[in-house]
Amino acid sequence: MTRTVLVAGSTGYLGKYAVRAFHQRGYRVRALTRDEARLGEPGPFTAPPVAEFADEVFVGEVTKPETLDGLMDGVDLVFSSIGISRQRDGLSFDEVDHRANRRLVDLARQAGVEKFVYVSLWGADEIRHLEIVRAHEKVVAALAESGLPHTIVRPSGYFSDMGVLLDMARRGRAFLVGEGTNRFNPIHGADLAEVCVDAMESSAREIGAGGPETLTQREAAELAFDVLGKPPRITVLPLWLMRGGVRLIGALNQQFGDLFEFIVTAGEIDGVAPSVGRTTLRSYFEGLAADR
Ligand SMILES: NC(=O)c1ccc[n+]([C@@H]2O[C@H](COP(=O)([O-])OP(=O)(O)OC[C@H]3O[C@@H](n4cnc5c(N)ncnc54)[C@H](OP(=O)(O)O)[C@@H]3O)[C@@H](O)[C@H]2O)c1
Repeated sequence: MTRTVLVAGSTGYLGKYAVRAFHQRGYRVRALTRDEARLGEPGPFTAPPVAEFADEVFVGEVTKPETLDGLMDGVDLVFSSIGISRQRDGLSFDEVDHRANRRLVDLARQAGVEKFVYVSLWGADEIRHLEIVRAHEKVVAALAESGLPHTIVRPSGYFSDMGVLLDMARRGRAFLVGEGTNRFNPIHGADLAEVCVDAMESSAREIGAGGPETLTQREAAELAFDVLGKPPRITVLPLWLMRGGVRLIGALNQQFGDLFEFIVTAGEIDGVAPSVGRTTLRSYFEGLAADR
């Protein structure tokens, strides 16, 4: 029997790939979105248009409970990749990454759904002081308390963030937060979406998900220049300066400060998750370069 999966975050980078992957793996997809038209548009950095893969569309806004009546009717499974990756709404990580997802957990529990797959972050224990991590991990705790069967997917960095490197290389200069010696293995959204569908069918409590290659931030930037056939021009933004920037921006605007602190921390720490993705960064950059 075809089962219906609610995909929350369906207009985001990972969410678009997830809508497509769940549909192609035989699920009936109900896409939750606050703007139906955006399902039909390509997302940033190769995320595909997905209107044709969304079997049902529910228009609602997770931060506004009054818009969610009936959201879980007929839903068997829930997937959520809702979170703030670029600040657009002036809302905090606690309001979106935590409370909006927690609302979905509560609704899923009340509706008696079979399973919830939630996307948090790799290496959360080491960076729990960050607001974004605290918010994600409160959802993880809420799922544990809910009694709902669930799996937490913990990805390293996304290729969408690597696309930013190629954009900088195109403009002639890449900026790195710190020396760029920290190591990570970013993953393509399409590969990660397959992991998320597998997670729905798995009994594992947590699944770490990284790409096939581990490289430093600097090597990733150099690769972007190489693919474009340009000599690498890289400027290091010193960590001491960036940390000062975090304090200044945080004093002016808490939400931007929290996001900036996350970006600066990502420039300092390693993030190497179990290697499950197959798409190489070079092939991804080559695809982006050819698209232009
Ligand atoms: N980027 C990384 O390297 C990375 C690594 C590990 C984990 N993650 C986590 O993975 C998740 C997905 O990342 P992504 O790159 O796919 O993010 P994304 O492209 O920014 O998509 C986020 C989704 O959340 C929704 N959303 C954000 N603010 C909202 C609000 N105020 N009200 C309603 N919906 C809202 C967006 O809806 P709209 O399209 O309508 O704005 C979108 O569907 C995030 O939780 C992120 O923290 C990211």
